[in-house]
Amino acid sequence: MTQTTLHTLADLKQSGEKITCLTAYDATHANLVSSNGIEVILIGDSLGMVCQGLSSTVPVSIDDMVYHTRCVSRGNQDSLLMADMPFMGCAIEEQAMVNATTLMQAGADVIKLEGGSWLCPIVKKLSERGVPSCLHLGLTPQTVSMLSGYRVQGRDAASASRMIEDACLLEQAGANILVLECVPTQLARDITEAVNIPVIGIGAGPDTDGQVLVLYDMLGMTAGKSPRFVKNFMAETASPQAAVTAFVSDVKEGRFPEAEHGFYSV
Ligand code: KIV
Repeated sequence: MTQTTLHTLADLKQSGEKITCLTAYDATHANLVSSNGIEVILIGDSLGMVCQGLSSTVPVSIDDMVYHTRCVSRGNQDSLLMADMPFMGCAIEEQAMVNATTLMQAGADVIKLEGGSWLCPIVKKLSERGVPSCLHLGLTPQTVSMLSGYRVQGRDAASASRMIEDACLLEQAGANILVLECVPTQLARDITEAVNIPVIGIGAGPDTDGQVLVLYDMLGMTAGKSPRFVKNFMAETASPQAAVTAFVSDVKEGRFPEAEHGFYSV
């Protein structure tokens, strides 16, 4: 595979070919996903839960994110690397610039920020300074306390139209990618059609431009009950390599996600 860039993702959106994204937190897993066809690796702050045993992503620090981004960049072959800005890492503009700098210097190609149009000034500044951004809308795990738990977002007409407006404003401010987590299938389709930038979904139905899952979830390694949108690709395959390849072909050929993995409006 050749190096995946923002241009590659724009071309994929344009052509209708689905984008594949999985998380990785270390060099071995980065090599596994990158050498088996994954276009985007997300160094997600979900590492707080899956690597550090935390009960939320809130305690994950910028130092944690930098450490794992460095590890992933050493194992990566040619995937685009997207690293999460940790909780409150962009609450103050100056701090956001410093944190984005350290993540880019650790190997990130894109910085992912959780939040809506209040982030427009920061997205604009990052873009003007040459730092690509991905904005995470819908269920934003860093603000789980404010959301009163891990719930589907945008189920009623008012919150759905607010999310569409946020997506458009963030694109105008310079955002390069959107991630939509746990939103009804129809809303995800509307947002994907409303913006020109690639939209990657998790629990957002089949109509976004791409799909992302937490690697440990899709390898069936996560203890306890999995969220509805997860599919265990190890259940039907013999190796982690085969599971990643099956994820890629199922996403590309429209076999994943299925209706049972999605959510619907009230
Ligand atoms: O941190 C993470 O892994 C994420 C995905 C769930 C999209 O943000």
